[in-house]
Amino acid sequence: MDEKIEQAARWLASADKAIVLSGAGISTESGIPDFRSADGIWSRYDPAEYATLGAFLRDPAKVWLMLAELDELLRAQPNPGHTALAELEQAGAVAGIVTQNVDGLHQAAGSRNVVEFHGSSRTYSCLTCGAVYPRDDVRAMIKPPRCTREVESRTCDTILKPDVVFFDEMIPPQALTRTERLVDGADLILVVGTSCEVYPAAGIPWQVRQQGGRIVEINLEPARELPSDVVLAGKSATLLPAIVEKWKHLVN
Ligand code: APR
Repeated sequence: MDEKIEQAARWLASADKAIVLSGAGISTESGIPDFRSADGIWSRYDPAEYATLGAFLRDPAKVWLMLAELDELLRAQPNPGHTALAELEQAGAVAGIVTQNVDGLHQAAGSRNVVEFHGSSRTYSCLTCGAVYPRDDVRAMIKPPRCTREVESRTCDTILKPDVVFFDEMIPPQALTRTERLVDGADLILVVGTSCEVYPAAGIPWQVRQQGGRIVEINLEPARELPSDVVLAGKSATLLPAIVEKWKHLVN
């Protein structure tokens, strides 16, 4: 493993533009389960029933059984993996992060250029009247939370939806544009904590590869289809700080 850490650090030190694609695995050590591991969220909730807009529109109260559980977990704090990536960005060694996570932990760790590819759970929207609520307001509401806005002298009362991207929803256009800009010219991508099973996010490393860039994968269980140049099979909260330590020796 030491050799692989060294290799990743060397490529990081010599890259013109390094970027990151992260997924749920980077936050498991903060206490948030991932989706597709044996005890992941999809082992308990069928995504077809709990993670599509169609399912939400049919039965929002049912989907809120899962959302209420996840909301509790989202009180989590960033771990050393998030902090290591923030440090790399601050030092100019990483241009930015595309994350599939909605937990806001990269930003909480100090990362600034973070593209939230699947939206975020910072805000919640009413799909009837368009009202938007911050997470703290929704936390204080009885579940499922309902829109409290007065519309034509009656309370709207629609069940709120987190501003996350469900499976049958579009990736926010702004996220796509920002991702394109990040990928443009990237010659190294760190893929961290993602099974790379969900497109279009899973296509991002392939784009870097197509333009001649390298792929460094950090995953507890390696992704099935990723053409990685090096795979560090282990925990990101240990491996990312280890890479940063090596990288510091190389650049100082
Ligand atoms: N360190 C490194 N990797 C880890 C760790 C850890 N501590 N814990 C888990 N992993 C790895 C798993 O082995 C797996 O390869 O992280 C990956 C998590 O994969 P998924 O559960 O599929 O999560 P993700 O890729 O983010 O899912 C993509 O699917 O359900 C949707 O919208 C949801 O954004 C999510 C998308």
